[in-house]
Amino acid sequence: MRGSKMKTEYVDLREDKDIRERLKKAAEIIKDGGLVAFPTETVYGLGANGLNDEAVPKIYEAKGRPSDNPLILHISEFDEIKSLVKEIPNIAYVLADEFWPGPLTMVFNKSDIVPYRTTGGLESVALRMPSNKIAREFIKAAGVPVAAPSANSSGRPSPTKASHVLKDLEGRIDMVIDGGEVDIGIESTIVDVTGEVPIILRPGFITEEMLLEAIGRVEVDEAVKSLVQGLDFKPKAPGMKYRHYAPYGKMAIYKGDNKKVIEVINEEIKKQIGKKTAVLATDETKDLYEADIVVSVGSRQSAKSIAHNLFNVLRKFDEMGAEMIFSESFDENKLGFAIMNRLHKSAGYNIINV
Ligand code: TXA
Ligand code: MG
Repeated sequence: MRGSKMKTEYVDLREDKDIRERLKKAAEIIKDGGLVAFPTETVYGLGANGLNDEAVPKIYEAKGRPSDNPLILHISEFDEIKSLVKEIPNIAYVLADEFWPGPLTMVFNKSDIVPYRTTGGLESVALRMPSNKIAREFIKAAGVPVAAPSANSSGRPSPTKASHVLKDLEGRIDMVIDGGEVDIGIESTIVDVTGEVPIILRPGFITEEMLLEAIGRVEVDEAVKSLVQGLDFKPKAPGMKYRHYAPYGKMAIYKGDNKKVIEVINEEIKKQIGKKTAVLATDETKDLYEADIVVSVGSRQSAKSIAHNLFNVLRKFDEMGAEMIFSESFDENKLGFAIMNRLHKSAGYNIINV
């Protein structure tokens, strides 16, 4: 029940020791219809038995998530998909071969055993086989497909550490498994494989270029491409329409020539009298700002480092009480496309071209 408190058990699996033994209780909780947050290589997930339509609503309750926003089912072996989908398109075999286990989610036509509560009423189901070792062992031990959205309160930045999960969900879930900081830091790429041409519904670590190389043909959902999302196009992944990943402070993204961006942001900072200002900067630029808080999100030489730190930095701004957040922007190619997708959402599409 919303607001009611339960004790959230904390299990520390940061040391790679007796993992199987120590996951037994977590698996029992899933079998009994409870909620366990667990690490994956992308972000932490909030898991429940995805075939139990009394367990699944607890996820929505704990996160405060709109019930029309479908969940991803997590599996540990390829064969598990057979009972969950109507048919397996050829392209799915190729993609699974190339990218599973890993940060790719595929959308299929669902079979009858997948409850509508898991799919938000849709006839399709999203499936992913994570590569994180704890995640795999946990799913295997649970013995059922594990429905898991990111383990944050709805609308907040996705959790990349167990402490983020506890901050949002302590007292609302049965257990959190701490596997340390995640590897990638942004959520999986979602590809719809139900149509003739596969469509990217959410950009992620597996880029359009990587998909093209594997399967020769892929499109990007129009709603993902368009900035004024929701106005022109209805995204095919229902979750993409919500404001998301948002820090508490007001945030704006500055685009244009790097030098000019720094100049304009510094001018804006001067105007913010009495407000706590913050800048999302990079290793290359962090010493050039005069804000109250300046955090580097990583190096411009490494999109991976930026993806890895992004959500953590947004949460840091909150911890430090940032009221006005000024963000640099990044090239939108390859992994940068996913990074900018998340940044745009965090800022509620508040973009300033300089
Ligand atoms: O990396 C990830 O994918 C993480 C980890 C925990 O695996 N999970 C995650 O889940 O990001 P969530 O619930 O935060 O985001 C799932 C997205 C939502 O935008 C949802 O609308 C979309 O996937 N989705 C789920 N099922 C779908 C379906 N059948 N058709 C289209 N979109 C779907
Ligand atoms: Mg999420």
